[in-house]
Amino acid sequence: MKIKSIITAALALLVSTSCSGGTKQEKVMTKDGKALVVFFSHAGDNYAVGNIKVGNTKIVADYLTELTGAEQFEIITHKYDGMAYNTLIELAKKEAKDGELPAYEGDVDLSPYDTVFIGGPVWWGTYPQVMFTFFKKHTNDLKGKTIIPFTTHEGSGLAHCVEDVKAAFPGANVQKGFSIYGHKVRTEKAKVEKWIKTLNP
Ligand SMILES: Cc1cc2nc3c(=O)[nH]c(=O)nc-3n(C[C@H](O)[C@H](O)[C@H](O)COP(=O)(O)O)c2cc1C
Repeated sequence: MKIKSIITAALALLVSTSCSGGTKQEKVMTKDGKALVVFFSHAGDNYAVGNIKVGNTKIVADYLTELTGAEQFEIITHKYDGMAYNTLIELAKKEAKDGELPAYEGDVDLSPYDTVFIGGPVWWGTYPQVMFTFFKKHTNDLKGKTIIPFTTHEGSGLAHCVEDVKAAFPGANVQKGFSIYGHKVRTEKAKVEKWIKTLNP
């Protein structure tokens, strides 16, 4: 009898602990784990949205932080600042063709994180090359950890991004991924919320 009540009390404690997170969807993170959103996003002249002050992917990254409590590391380069869309399109095409690895500012220690969201726009069928600079630098840092890729795009969906993340981080548990149209991110926060609710640790 006594053992039964101890087990009941332990279960009640477990349930109350796992439910104590307010509205945050903390279940996306592994037990007691921390999550990080690593993303690149290009503000400025862009397809379908005109000249935007905040990039489409950054808006999704901010939703993720709000909904899950995940911290952020933004991959920043000033290489494309103020560039007209048509110029950027050509430059990005050349970068991808040549496998260039543009430098980014600062860096992040991935060791405290169990779950890492990786997000960016689709550029010519995959993530922008500057994200590959990040991937190359951190290729051994996510072994045994969970990676959740996402993209914003204008028709290509996830394109080749998930495959490229899998190749870039051997030994990581790379999940299915999520994509959303760039021109819809400002009005479709609910879609991001719905996705977050489907994630399992
Ligand atoms: C250089 C460049 C290449 C792009 N290539 C693609 C593409 O191959 N497929 C696609 O669906 N969208 C493509 N897009 C559209 C972007 O993926 C889309 O606008 C995205 O939401 C931009 O996100 P950001 O504002 O966070 O940079 C491209 C945009 C740019 C600037």
